[in-house]
Amino acid sequence: MQTRIETVDPQRMDETIMAEAGRLIAEGELVAFPTETVYGLGADALNPEASAKIYAAKGRPSDNPLIVHIADFSDMARVALELPPQAKLLSDAFWPGPLTMIVNKSDAVPQATTGGMDTVAVRMPNHPVALELIRRSGCLIAAPSANTSGRPSPTEAAHVVEDMNGRIAMILDGGPVRIGIESTIIDLTEPVPMVLRPGYITPKMLSEVLGQEVILDPGIIAADDTRKPKAPGMKYRHYAPKAQMVVVDGKEQAVVTKINELVKEKRDRGEKVAVIATEETRSCYEADIVLCIGRRTDEDAIAQHLYRILRECDDLDVAAIYSECFQTPRIGQAIMNRLLKAAGHMIIEV
Ligand code: TXA
Ligand code: MG
Repeated sequence: MQTRIETVDPQRMDETIMAEAGRLIAEGELVAFPTETVYGLGADALNPEASAKIYAAKGRPSDNPLIVHIADFSDMARVALELPPQAKLLSDAFWPGPLTMIVNKSDAVPQATTGGMDTVAVRMPNHPVALELIRRSGCLIAAPSANTSGRPSPTEAAHVVEDMNGRIAMILDGGPVRIGIESTIIDLTEPVPMVLRPGYITPKMLSEVLGQEVILDPGIIAADDTRKPKAPGMKYRHYAPKAQMVVVDGKEQAVVTKINELVKEKRDRGEKVAVIATEETRSCYEADIVLCIGRRTDEDAIAQHLYRILRECDDLDVAAIYSECFQTPRIGQAIMNRLLKAAGHMIIEV
């Protein structure tokens, strides 16, 4: 299949291109588009054949449900069996934005979209191109991250081209994304709301708006396989670079010393390695390749650059990657969740 790649200025969207993209979705084709978190791979959410194409293009396991993207809160009533009281509060506070809510699904949503589950994940993205695409198509848009299953999520259109060229009808290039890690997922089907995937919106922010306790799924914190995460996608070794990756945690100087030791061992065996460091520490390493993720105190930058850097490691064809920890105050939980998954939970404490 020939993939059309179109550049769209989010501030001045081309009418013809957006109309064409909307038409493709309505006809059951796949269109990749930017959101504020990561690029999504979109299809008509209420059309089971269209959803099935997403799984095929990504090589995604069929039990891993998709997020349904809406442009108007009233559409929540179409996909939800009943609206939990928290939905309106969260929508008023965070939509459009990087939050996905899980509710019981209505009959309108096919099981092909929810991976056979009776619940559905819903999100209103905060990106002009995403919202315009949903409106133009006249559909609700099911969209996972637009990467091949198992690869880091795409944060720029070039990543989508890498993974999806020739497999889908169109890619809308709206430039690099703003946030860089996927939306927070909150499950509203249980008496106590539960965060199934940490993101830019923290449990504390959610709990403040809801005026009730919000818990974190114990299955996503566990490093072993003793507890199964509730979001099916969180059990896969996602976001994974090809090379073996190890995260080193501890005081700055001890981390630098340990990573340099690990680098030396590999280099002595003639292997190429990469280090993921911060602006403050980059010059302390004796590795062939030092990738700088941003300033230590700039957590937005760290989130924004993480997936691009993991993809770069693949292109550089290194044997091992050593990364510092980024336990930043607000989104550190989300960043570390992705980093540790990329590392298959290989962490050394010094
Ligand atoms: O920021 C985002 O959420 C991006 C953009 C494109 O919107 N989308 C995204 O989708 O990250 P995806 O498919 O890569 O991740 C969706 C996650 C998976 O872990 C999936 O298992 C979980 O959401 N999920 C979806 N529906 C669910 C449901 N009904 N119950 C539990 N988990 C669900
Ligand atoms: Mg994904």
